[in-house]
Amino acid sequence: MPDVQIRIPGNPGEYPVVIESGLLSRISPRFKPFEGRKVAVITDENVAPLYAERITAALDAAGVRPVVRVLPAGETTKCMDQLEGLYDFLLTSGITRTDAVLALGGGVIGDLTGYAAATFLRGIRFIQVPTTLLAQVDSSVGGKVAINHPRGKNLLGAFYQPELVLIDTDTLSTLDERQVGAGLGEVIKYGCILDAALFERIEACGSRENLAPLYPEIVARCIELKGQVVFEDPYDRGLRMILNFGHTLAHAIENAAGYGEILHGEAVCIGMVAAAAWGTRLGITPPDTESRIRHILTDYSLPIEIPSGLTAERLFPSMALDKKASGKEIRIVCLEKIGRSRTVPVPAVRLKELMEQLSSAPRCQDANPF
Ligand code: NAD
Ligand code: GLY
Repeated sequence: MPDVQIRIPGNPGEYPVVIESGLLSRISPRFKPFEGRKVAVITDENVAPLYAERITAALDAAGVRPVVRVLPAGETTKCMDQLEGLYDFLLTSGITRTDAVLALGGGVIGDLTGYAAATFLRGIRFIQVPTTLLAQVDSSVGGKVAINHPRGKNLLGAFYQPELVLIDTDTLSTLDERQVGAGLGEVIKYGCILDAALFERIEACGSRENLAPLYPEIVARCIELKGQVVFEDPYDRGLRMILNFGHTLAHAIENAAGYGEILHGEAVCIGMVAAAAWGTRLGITPPDTESRIRHILTDYSLPIEIPSGLTAERLFPSMALDKKASGKEIRIVCLEKIGRSRTVPVPAVRLKELMEQLSSAPRCQDANPF
């Protein structure tokens, strides 16, 4: 039963990330610091019937007054309309600066709720209770909160750390296989960029079935890795950009396909294969790396090809809006080998060429990989 404490510098300082199988059944004491306050529980229509009542009962038992807002599920919820609706709800519920919001769900709910927390009354207390593999290994820690803009992913956002992250890995048992896969994409990403042993372990397991018993351990390891990176670079000015391995193309695919059509974690898988190919062409990534990544993703039934129809021409404008872009250069993340990565500034014209080489190769698959 690992209990990982990650350290984030600056205001409000360190916060605990608690990872336990079965945590929801004994979560109430964790809410004691909010006794006497209101907590707005923000969740979605799939997660609410599964877990909302357990959270509200635990809040009640801790002397906290819960109010609940249930939003539509899916990526399209990370938008300005839903954010505005959320502000209205918080105002109507009488949430003040000493109260808190609690995100119960996946990365969509976490990112949207976190952005509301960062901006409502110039910032209120924020708790994350992530229920997808992707949110447990990545989005619930580190303080990146955002909504999408029609022209690009996560273009409106902030850095705003939660005060508490509570992870019950048992919630993964109700997650459908496609969503598990999306989370595995991010797990494999950590192996690629920072931890060859993690990558090799996943490679050796060879299937989701064999890997599943290791989820609590894997979640803890990914959080530990992310914590180290975020501690070094909380505001994404250097090292932290490696966490975006595969994301330059992934964000463009999500945008061009229409938000929600290809899941974020799926798009990251496709983006990692492309980034390995680019790295090799740039003379940074050893030539066998791309095929190793292709193999591991295939073993775990994850997509590896750019969906047909998403040409370089369609994808590139959104890549140029990437938050790692500056002037005429776009920083991409390349692997020096499995387990070691760095960012590389690439002139926009060169990246466009690399994109064109990718999409001209005869290996695209149908628009929706599932
Ligand atoms: P999601 O939030 O859409 O959740 C996926 C689906 O699973 C939803 O339909 C949801 O209702 C359902 N669900 C959630 N938990 C469940 C459970 N336990 N049982 C059954 N169903 C459940 O998607 P996601 O993959 O969790 O998050 C993707 C988002 O996270 C993207 O918007 C991405 O940009 C963002 N993200 C943010 C960061 C960050 O650092 N902030 C990092 C990575 C990804
Ligand atoms: N998911 C990328 C980051 O947190 O920086």
